[in-house]
Amino acid sequence: MKDKLILKDYFSYEDKESILAQMQAHSKEWGAIPFLLSLLKEGSFHQKLGKGSLYLLLDEEKLTDGKPSLASFLTFCDRDEIESNLKPWIGFVFTAPAYRGHHLAGQIIEHCMNNAVALYPESEYVYVSSDEKGLYEKYGFEFVGKMKTIWGEDSGVFRKKIEKEANEITYKTLSPADYDELWALWNQVEQTKRALNPVDDTREGITRYMKRNPTTCFAATSGGKIVGAILTGHDGRRAIIHHLCVHPDFQRMGIASALVAKAEEALKKEGITKAFGLVFKDNDKANSFWEKMGYSLRTNLNYRNKSLNADVPTGE
Ligand SMILES: CC(C)(COP(=O)(O)OP(=O)(O)OC[C@H]1O[C@@H](n2cnc3c(N)ncnc32)[C@H](O)[C@@H]1OP(=O)(O)O)[C@@H](O)C(=O)NCCC(=O)NCCS
Repeated sequence: MKDKLILKDYFSYEDKESILAQMQAHSKEWGAIPFLLSLLKEGSFHQKLGKGSLYLLLDEEKLTDGKPSLASFLTFCDRDEIESNLKPWIGFVFTAPAYRGHHLAGQIIEHCMNNAVALYPESEYVYVSSDEKGLYEKYGFEFVGKMKTIWGEDSGVFRKKIEKEANEITYKTLSPADYDELWALWNQVEQTKRALNPVDDTREGITRYMKRNPTTCFAATSGGKIVGAILTGHDGRRAIIHHLCVHPDFQRMGIASALVAKAEEALKKEGITKAFGLVFKDNDKANSFWEKMGYSLRTNLNYRNKSLNADVPTGE
């Protein structure tokens, strides 16, 4: 069963309406769902729970109203229902009745644990508040004691140690062997997916690019997985930056800045004096990022291009 399920971050998932409708349909099965739904619908999720996200496990083979079925979900955020400065917390853990007994919540918890060290470098544990006996122990949590909830009631609190060493962010030079992981990452980052080229970004295209630019393309990894990447190459005079991206779970942690710094250093070693990149005008995040990195906006130039291959779009 697990093989046909895909993990998504609610806030970067395109079809939020379908998720909200499926949650609504499950709300009779668990009293906490209406509250979570109200946070999502009112847009107060982050205000109430702090930094973090709602992770979804979707079944792409079994459709509900024509959309992937919501199999399981949970939140992984600064806060949950306990009055405390401890963080992060796993909360709102729910698996749809048809999917129970397959360790699906465990699959999302594992994802959170793997990301915890990079997202919460100051924290030693991930916490969960629950009165269930024996459930979280199965996922490697230990019982800590009772704590007060924001509703003034006592609740059991469990914690699980974050494995620091396995999950530190490390950087490496990219090679053609990384193509499958890169392709998967690009497709998980909306703004990069939009920029993918049907010829140049194939395995063949990227292999050719990396062979020409073996020292100037970098990846950031966490737990051995690529979570961010930058392609830079030059023609002996100018450098162009392509497809800088960081997985949504790892953004705003300085990863893209570190990738750009590594690329700039490598380009300088090759005697390159100037680099540029193309950014969609409506990509506010990226434009803020490049501004912060000191990449000035040229307003006295028109970007002109011509396709030399019928399969490669010229763009508008
Ligand atoms: C743009 C992107 C690569 C930034 O990655 P990142 O690892 O989050 O960036 P950093 O943490 O290094 O951010 C450095 C600075 O850039 C600016 N910045 C980054 N993301 C920002 C955002 N969402 N909103 C406003 N400013 C932002 C901030 O000044 C930030 O510093 P701060 O966090 O101390 O305020 C990432 O948002 C991404 O992958 N976006 C989708 C793909 C994309 O658009 N790529 C760019 C193609 S040109």
